[in-house]
Amino acid sequence: MPFTRTLTALALAALAGSVQAQGTVNALCSTDAPWCEAAAAEFTRQTGIKVNQAHKGTGEIGAQLRAEAQNPKTDIWWGGTGDPFLQAAEAGLLDAYRPAYINDLHEWAVRQYAMSGNQVGGFYTSTIGFGFNTDLLKKKGLPEPKCWADLVKPEYKGDIEISHPASSGTAYTVIAGLVQQMGEEQAFEYLKKLHRNVTQYTRSGQAQAPNVAKGEVAIGVTFAFNFEKWKHDKYPVKTAAPCEGTSYEIGGIALVKGARNKANAQKYYDWLMGPAGQAVGARVGSYQTPANRTFKPDPRIPAIDSVKLVKYDFEKYGKSAERKRLIDRWTKEVEALPR
Ligand code: F6P
Repeated sequence: MPFTRTLTALALAALAGSVQAQGTVNALCSTDAPWCEAAAAEFTRQTGIKVNQAHKGTGEIGAQLRAEAQNPKTDIWWGGTGDPFLQAAEAGLLDAYRPAYINDLHEWAVRQYAMSGNQVGGFYTSTIGFGFNTDLLKKKGLPEPKCWADLVKPEYKGDIEISHPASSGTAYTVIAGLVQQMGEEQAFEYLKKLHRNVTQYTRSGQAQAPNVAKGEVAIGVTFAFNFEKWKHDKYPVKTAAPCEGTSYEIGGIALVKGARNKANAQKYYDWLMGPAGQAVGARVGSYQTPANRTFKPDPRIPAIDSVKLVKYDFEKYGKSAERKRLIDRWTKEVEALPR
């Protein structure tokens, strides 16, 4: 018996030795922190490649890659809204990569490769919506919002939370979507009215679901799936897809130009896009629709075919100049207003 135990220990030690010898990959991740962390840990366990990974908002990482351009410290960036990825591609910060399993992906994911000269892959998709705390709304005597038009009613003053477009890809998706839906002038008039009801602009669009679920704010505007986890955990949370229509994301994945650990970055990329990596999200409460269609997605992922979507022009709103122009205009004309 002790002999068997020693052998097992030796075998484990040898295995640990061999997996440790596989090197490193430096990653940045903009989807939910639990997914970022669980994926890195699982990948390391399976391959022995160590993942040094930081978690930040999509807009923040876009800015970081621009700052690192002369001396790239990142090998791969994954998760987060696609627009800042397309802007990084336009700025020449990414490397082209067309994975062998491209035919396993949904058409909307493949389209991102085509649009970016293979520099940006479509990683998942999800739609913008509202989440609200039903107990809090009841306590305040407020109706459940159903439409964008509801959110600007004076009775919701101080009851709405959204993120800040400079750091958060989510907020940019909201603003660019409203511009496409209403026309730019009307969208900015709308955003000014909405601003009066906003209690805070958070750094990331990942803050609204926990804040709503815990009753810190009544209504959150972000990607609607974020609230699913809290619904399943029996928090008093409901969601609505805006009745007028709404925007959506095609989350990104990309290799960084000048990566020091290119081979390992490619392995991580392939793993993240394969069924193993894609399934991690739903396991830890991230219910976006995965790009890979070769496995059965988690039944808790909300169906998006019934959501009325704007015809989002990723080409136009994925351009740096357009993003900068809209965010500058928002900062000057909306954020600067008193609340
Ligand atoms: O919560 C995950 C998620 O909503 C993604 O679907 C989205 O791509 C990302 O967060 C956006 O995060 P941020 O608003 O911080 O850029």
